Amino acid sequence: MSNIVIIGTQWGDEGKGKIVDLLAEYADIVVRFQGGNNAGHTMVVNGETFISHLIPSGILQQKMCLIGNGMVVDPEVLIEEIDYLREKGIHIGAGNLRISERANIIMPYHKAIDIARELRIGDKKIGTTGRGIGPCYEDKVTRRGIRFSDLSDPDEFAEKVMTVLDEKNFYLKQYLGAETVDARMLIEQYRSYAERLMPHVCNVSVVLDNAMKAGKQVLFEGAQGTHLDIDHGTYPYVTSSNTVSGNACCGSGVGPKDINGVMGIVKAYTTRVGAGPFPAELFDAIGDKIQKKGAEFGATTGRKRRCGWLDVVMLKNSVRLNGLTGLAITKLDVLGELDEIRICTAYEYQGKRIDVFPTSLKVLAQCKPVYETLPGWSQDISDLKTFEALPQNVRNYLIRIEELCQTPIHIVSVGPGRDETIVLNNPF
Ligand code: GDP
Ligand code: IMO
Ligand code: MG
Repeated sequence: MSNIVIIGTQWGDEGKGKIVDLLAEYADIVVRFQGGNNAGHTMVVNGETFISHLIPSGILQQKMCLIGNGMVVDPEVLIEEIDYLREKGIHIGAGNLRISERANIIMPYHKAIDIARELRIGDKKIGTTGRGIGPCYEDKVTRRGIRFSDLSDPDEFAEKVMTVLDEKNFYLKQYLGAETVDARMLIEQYRSYAERLMPHVCNVSVVLDNAMKAGKQVLFEGAQGTHLDIDHGTYPYVTSSNTVSGNACCGSGVGPKDINGVMGIVKAYTTRVGAGPFPAELFDAIGDKIQKKGAEFGATTGRKRRCGWLDVVMLKNSVRLNGLTGLAITKLDVLGELDEIRICTAYEYQGKRIDVFPTSLKVLAQCKPVYETLPGWSQDISDLKTFEALPQNVRNYLIRIEELCQTPIHIVSVGPGRDETIVLNNPF
């Protein structure tokens, strides 16, 4: 029996959705443990594209999907997503989609605050997705959050909302100069969401415990990426949750002894949406080429993703922070038709070479990438099915990544489709 955590090693959008969908075939349960609809996970099956923001990417394999206590959930978006997937012929019911009664709920004032704050700080903005993620986690930590369990008692829910709303509206109007939120409309709206969603609400920790005792296999699906982690990422240009593998336990209610492996998803180059330093960023024609060929636009906000070479300083940080036991390299096909490929193996800071990812953003912003250059390849590799069939220069690139990260590559992805994948070692 294996339980595997899948996390992003960079700044998100590494292709986690695709790999989770692929490996969900071997799992009985897929659980998300942090983040909310700031995530956008893409799955392409038989030419059809599906994007999920909240529902775990195991849903297309029709596995039991769990929304863990560590998530922040916008009920309106969740209902839209259920309807969108049902329209596409995916069965979703209370039997295969369960929501933790402890997950915090994103309220309209969280979204309003997120958007108004970013507007107010202008140039210094974080470039959030505007989905209310940060303000919702703030309330969780200051113990004013509203959780799914609160939806079961309409009177208590209304009372909690009224207490919180007083302060939120004062802040929205007086400080941020934004529209206030109407209490009656909010309460009515959330009552209707509760009617739709309460049948799915349960104790996710107990569901997982029972399943694991019965020998079922669990896949823990991370969102965002290690360098967007609230503690370990490029603070303050990060998201508001812990994205590293350790949070798979806290965010779903299991203990560390139940985790058997951690797969890090690595895009074959680096991308970032939103603001913050990015040492290996490309500002030239090669960066443009990768952006276009990789169709690097955010799955949630549609923003153009910034592109750069693969950064092994970041990857080594991820290997350590997550205890990675294997890597999945994605979007390798995108690097085709380049004369040479570069790997950032260290940074140069004030004339000194450093290979540990710095904490200070001021230092990081001044780090210059030190590159190793490998020959590129011209062949289209997207229909290749084995490692041996890959051109020698592609294999050399992969072998070098393994050497530098000291972690084995288990999966190589050569196209967005579920079947455009080379599995070297199935972690389940
Ligand atoms: P996630 O947030 O980590 O799930 O990643 P996203 O879905 O936001 O972004 C990854 C994008 O790359 C999606 O459009 C995927 O369909 C696409 N993708 C995933 N793997 C590959 C691959 O190996 N090759 C190509 N060309 N596209 C891929
Ligand atoms: P997936 O799961 C890429 C980024 C935002 C912004 C920062 C804070 O698809 O990989 P937030 O709205 O979370 O407060 O924004 O984090 N961000 C992501 N970038 N992929 C994501 O998710 C992201 N989720 C948040 O762009 O820079
Ligand atoms: Mg994404």
